[in-house]
Amino acid sequence: MQYTAIIGAMDIEVEGLRERLDGAQPISTGQLGFPLCAGVLGRTPVLLAKCGIGKVNAALCTQYLIDHFPVRALINSGVAGALGPQVNPGDLVVSHAALHHDVDVSFFGYPKGVVPGLNVGRFPADQKLVQCAVGEARRVLDKDRVHQGLIVSGDRFVAEGRDKQAILENFPDALCVEMEGSAIAQVAYQNKVPFVILRAMSDHADDSARADYETYLKRTIPVLNEIVTGMVAKL
Ligand code: ADE
Repeated sequence: MQYTAIIGAMDIEVEGLRERLDGAQPISTGQLGFPLCAGVLGRTPVLLAKCGIGKVNAALCTQYLIDHFPVRALINSGVAGALGPQVNPGDLVVSHAALHHDVDVSFFGYPKGVVPGLNVGRFPADQKLVQCAVGEARRVLDKDRVHQGLIVSGDRFVAEGRDKQAILENFPDALCVEMEGSAIAQVAYQNKVPFVILRAMSDHADDSARADYETYLKRTIPVLNEIVTGMVAKL
């Protein structure tokens, strides 16, 4: 039996999904100690993990899952700050690719975001998972609220206009910013496991983030969970 692994960073990003799992069973994760359970969504065997916030937590969790279970696909589900001009709170972004916006070895000639030693700058998401996610998202949301493209991640919450602009100067086609997706993408890429990232927009990643975040977090997560559940059941 192979598992589809769903990773969220925070309790609120996984608890609604846990309630939807049939036969959910907690699984020990030893020293790392992140919460993990196994169950079934539709007829799909699922691992559901809460990795904690940030790229290192996300990478550790992803590699642990790959090392300890037969994982056929990785889905990262959560919220993000909108970067693209046409992307707004409440919208959904599905990754075509992901990169680390805070990796910068340009001193040695590498383009910003590129990890030296890897042969790609952007980690490409799996086309079939992308299509499945987009199809399900369009069923639940208006078409113009579903976006596909580049997701960037870094180890800080982006809540100042200056910071947002700096990220967009380096990565003009980035649609949204969050704190785990690119790490999950890199680990998936290096282990040759298909992945996709689904992010619901909780804010504009600027000075208005403080006002928007809590409201849209609560509002968007149930919609995101419906999309993820529908998508996984079809895999
Ligand atoms: N997750 C949700 N909103 C975010 C933001 N503005 N920056 C980083 N991660 C986020």
